[in-house]
Amino acid sequence: MKQTFKFVTAEEAASFIKHGDVVGFSGFTAAGSPKAVPTALAKRAEELHSQGKEFKIGMFTGASTGDSLDGALARAKAISYRSPYQSNKDLRNAMNSGEVEYYDLHLSSLALSLRYGFVKKPKFAILEICDLKENGEVVLTTGVGISPTISRIADYVILEYNRFHPRELAGFHDIYEAGDPPHRREIPIYNASDRIGTTTLKIDPKKILCVVETNQADEVGGFTPLDDVTTRIGENVASFLASELKLNKIPKEFVPLQSGVGNIANAVLASLGNNPEIPPFDMYTEVIQDSVIKLMKEGRVKFASGCSLTVSAEMLQEVYADLDFFRDKLVLRPQEISNSPEIVRRLGLISINTALEADIFGNVNSTHVLGSKMMNGIGGSGDFTRNSYFSIFTTPSTAKGGKISAIVPMVSHNDHSEHSVKVLITEHGVADLRGFSPRQRAEMIIEQCADPMYRPMLRDYLKICGSGHTPVNLGACFGMHRQFAKTGNMLDTKWEDFTG
Ligand code: COA
Repeated sequence: MKQTFKFVTAEEAASFIKHGDVVGFSGFTAAGSPKAVPTALAKRAEELHSQGKEFKIGMFTGASTGDSLDGALARAKAISYRSPYQSNKDLRNAMNSGEVEYYDLHLSSLALSLRYGFVKKPKFAILEICDLKENGEVVLTTGVGISPTISRIADYVILEYNRFHPRELAGFHDIYEAGDPPHRREIPIYNASDRIGTTTLKIDPKKILCVVETNQADEVGGFTPLDDVTTRIGENVASFLASELKLNKIPKEFVPLQSGVGNIANAVLASLGNNPEIPPFDMYTEVIQDSVIKLMKEGRVKFASGCSLTVSAEMLQEVYADLDFFRDKLVLRPQEISNSPEIVRRLGLISINTALEADIFGNVNSTHVLGSKMMNGIGGSGDFTRNSYFSIFTTPSTAKGGKISAIVPMVSHNDHSEHSVKVLITEHGVADLRGFSPRQRAEMIIEQCADPMYRPMLRDYLKICGSGHTPVNLGACFGMHRQFAKTGNMLDTKWEDFTG
């Protein structure tokens, strides 16, 4: 092996990358993203900057990454543009200040955009692996992301051979690239557990520029403990699904679930697992979080298909200690397959994602704080929401200690339109929007989802809207946001200030 491939230090590997190069990275979330080479790249950028030289790269990742990738490169001012989803504080600040150009994409579409030439082709692909054969076959680690596409289209591949992950991860991946139009066929997945590809990723060995040996854990953050609000949201989702099942609106065998990222998603899954009226279920999702593994051990989740195993360090050790138990219960797929709209529609997934804010008609903002500051990105929420059996959005009814209402007259940025959002759930209740007009939806959302202290204000807003299919007052619809900008509290809103 040592003769076949060139083994180098992370610093040597980073030195191949020049100012202006485009780099694609493996992984999905902090799971499976490279760590040593990006850290070395950030250091090199800082050195070059201190000599008055330019150094910035364009970059594509699967989704968010760990701090030693997104964080280190952002702090080193080494990123000129980036796509897609991210969740790093330093990178977010750089994007919102205009220092980094960011364009957000549905995660299922990135590999396609790369293959179709809609976005710049990466010169380098940097991949984290846990096994390597002389013919260029590799075993990926805890995330798949866009690795199959970038390793095929990039000119050079740099491998981070991370000994932290056991080689026995071989067999957990299902590597597959869909065909391209006009000869694209169906993606032959008919059950969450179907396998259609290979367990290893085959890379042209001539492209493998060098290999860096490492031993580093994934940088997955922990979860904040469940609080009253997240617990109530979780219970509302679980009892809503149980009642839909009783009403035969969900097939009795149940349908696979997709669940979003973060604390609320984790809480929702815990509640679903605890509800005896919900039968054991499959997951066809993007990110496999701690709660999925816990429910799998309890027999409540039968199978989980995802793009990454984004679990806490303790949970990953539990999985690694018992790989044989999980071998026939988990599969990791590229994001164009885990998030494929075709599969989402075919399997009839119930999608459950989190909103930053929703308006009284059911439009959802998942990405932009107060309309202009990017939080993370749309991630896979659009892939799943638009094509699901039905979509659920959850959100706490307020943010910032009650000074922001998550239910507003009009969203300050629209990621998911009223046509795709079917059910809205807060800690106060459930608004099942299916089959209702905008006026009816407005009443349901105000009475069932808004915080009681904001309900009179939202009712009063409807009174100043006049007639029309969708009641909107163009002068006042952003009044609550404008008030927050002025006094730091939406509760101070007086509609007469915005209707003159
Ligand atoms: N207006 C302004 N700020 C708001 C807000 C609103 N309506 N709602 C929440 N916030 C603030 C919170 O106060 C918090 O700020 P802080 O970090 O300063 O405390 C921040 O936004 C995040 O809120 P939080 O409730 O902690 O978020 P979360 O971890 O539950 O994540 C999303 C929520 C929407 C950001 C996250 O789910 C996301 O990025 N979604 C889009 C992608 C997606 O859905 N992926 C899954 C598909 S598989």
